[in-house]
Amino acid sequence: MPLAILSRRSWCALGAVLLLTLLGSGGSGCRKSPRPAPPSGTDKVHTIGMSQCNLGEPWRVQMNADLRAASAQHPQLKLVFKDAQNDTLKQRAHVEEFVSAGVDLIIISPKEAAPLTEPVAKAVAAGIPVIVLDRRLLGDKYTCFIGADNKKIGRAAGEWVKRTLAGKGKVVELKGLMTSTPGQDRHSGFREGIAGFELEVIFEADMKWLEPDARKEMESALARFPKIDLVYAHNDPGAHGAYLAAQAAGREKEIRFVGIDALPQEGVAYVSQGILDATFQYPTGGTEAIDLALKILRGETVLKEVTLGSRLFTKENVATGGQPLD
Ligand code: FRU
Repeated sequence: MPLAILSRRSWCALGAVLLLTLLGSGGSGCRKSPRPAPPSGTDKVHTIGMSQCNLGEPWRVQMNADLRAASAQHPQLKLVFKDAQNDTLKQRAHVEEFVSAGVDLIIISPKEAAPLTEPVAKAVAAGIPVIVLDRRLLGDKYTCFIGADNKKIGRAAGEWVKRTLAGKGKVVELKGLMTSTPGQDRHSGFREGIAGFELEVIFEADMKWLEPDARKEMESALARFPKIDLVYAHNDPGAHGAYLAAQAAGREKEIRFVGIDALPQEGVAYVSQGILDATFQYPTGGTEAIDLALKILRGETVLKEVTLGSRLFTKENVATGGQPLD
């Protein structure tokens, strides 16, 4: 149609198209978001519901930050975060809400295995892929699991303790929530690692991954046992809580402290400061979860299980970035 005979309405439409094109190309200079422009054409925006079991611990804040950073590279992804505040019932409701909202994919880092198994299975049955991060569920009714090998980390911790104490000594074990799989695996792996030597676990308690609980349990251990050689805690907040209890009792110098997580700003910093003797890295898997989500949303087949590596940090190797577990 020649330009001269375009109707008034057509001119308006043309103007709107031009304006949108300019805005889309960043020509307006007033875009609020630093995110790249949404993809054009048929790429639809995919909504991912992410249910985090709590945000009270630095490691989980880091997981969400990793997810956010990775998804920021993909403008077709929209992440909706929910925080269950360490409440299993709340987290079950999250999954159900995501299903009713019709999200395209769910990522869950579950608080406990058994109670979260059923809602996830229902989501999968409703056709929504689910990526399980860090803590496992029961059975196999999910799309994919991503996490490090907790049994291997526990065993490596046990072997490190065996070497460091020359096969002999009194140990306190502060366990993570034992209804969660990392707690179970870090415990059984550790016991395998120290087996067959004169290492005695004189005190063990479930500190539920929480620093204040670990501190309280350690106060009881210190009150009962005049000699403690080492504390193995299933995470760095637990090891730090134990250290604080020992420090308050004036006994921190005679005890070694071992933890797991190795966040640069937490466990690794404690090793550099001489608070912890060792920490084993437990990667959050946030970046890998977004990579996998993209593949699933594109209809590609993915592995059922993605196992992440780990590193050991001690005062000898902390300055050079630790050493990988073999
Ligand atoms: C955080 C945390 C980490 C631990 C992980 C295990 O909630 O306790 O410290 O490594 O969960 O699931």
